[in-house]
Amino acid sequence: MCQNIETDGKKKVLSCIQPSGMLTLGNYLGALKNWVGMQEEFDCTYAVADLHSITVRQEPAKLRGQIYSTFALLLALGIDTQKSTVFIQSHVPEHAQLSWLLSCYTQFGEMSRMTQFKDKSAKHADNVNVGLFAYPVLMAADILLYKPDLVPVGADQKQHLEIARDIALRFNRIYGDVFTVPEAYIPKTGARVMSLQDPSRKMSKSDENINAWVAILDSKDDIIRKFKRAVTDSDSCVRMSDEKPGISNLITIYSAVTGKTAAEVEREFDGKGYGAFKLAVGEAVADELAPIKRRYEEIIADKKALEALYREGAERAEKVARKTYFKAMKKVGFVL
Ligand code: TRP
Repeated sequence: MCQNIETDGKKKVLSCIQPSGMLTLGNYLGALKNWVGMQEEFDCTYAVADLHSITVRQEPAKLRGQIYSTFALLLALGIDTQKSTVFIQSHVPEHAQLSWLLSCYTQFGEMSRMTQFKDKSAKHADNVNVGLFAYPVLMAADILLYKPDLVPVGADQKQHLEIARDIALRFNRIYGDVFTVPEAYIPKTGARVMSLQDPSRKMSKSDENINAWVAILDSKDDIIRKFKRAVTDSDSCVRMSDEKPGISNLITIYSAVTGKTAAEVEREFDGKGYGAFKLAVGEAVADELAPIKRRYEEIIADKKALEALYREGAERAEKVARKTYFKAMKKVGFVL
């Protein structure tokens, strides 16, 4: 049964996240926390982008587990199925279908210029598959099916959003007004969280050093231990500065979690030294993540209830997706 969501006059937002491995504190503070907040102001559609994951080889049982856990984690974070549409990308076949259509309106040359493709094909030189190449077209389909006004994306996905806009404009120029051309949404708050071991690099779950990153589902002890070991500098002053990337990163994290400004944080820890500061950051992060972890464990334990939610989400999403897809097909000249 589908609930009606109150959408009157609200701008539409769409975003997706890949179910590849553990989500980190970086994903949380950089993006997912905003996804939760945006539900009040916008009509939001969020998907677990599982089709995107197989552009690199995945182990089947592991992939399946990660799709479940990513969906459950979105709910645990506070994505509310009464307010937003949440679903699993592969459950709505129009994503793959529209992707084919759009690929015929995308130039080989423009895909070849995508920096993520260049990086990933260098990293996985033994598996430079056509899906990896066409990945931004699938992402364009994800977006354009739902006619969003805004798409929250991180810096690494901006080029892909640009392509989605180009494809939409090109298609509309030929066939009239079919797709909405979305804008990138850069939230007012949104922290760029760096590695705890090498603050010149972004926090990443693929970092081999597990002390470099915090998973949203890490235990309190692990979180505190990782913050205690965070790389800082030989000074002892808690101050935001380009010369102090480790401490600046910790200030950013602490601000994002507590809502305090950097100046307030500097004042709070004036003269207190790094030990006390690191512990405070660890505790603040652990306290913020603890209820999420608790909710996650409840949600993931009830597979039946979880299934009902993702089926309902897909049904609701497909209603919207189908309309856009058929409109595009009709314009191109297919017999419907
Ligand atoms: N490619 C995005 C990433 O890896 C995930 C994604 C897939 C996405 N489809 C999208 C993001 C549509 C925004 C909109 O982060």
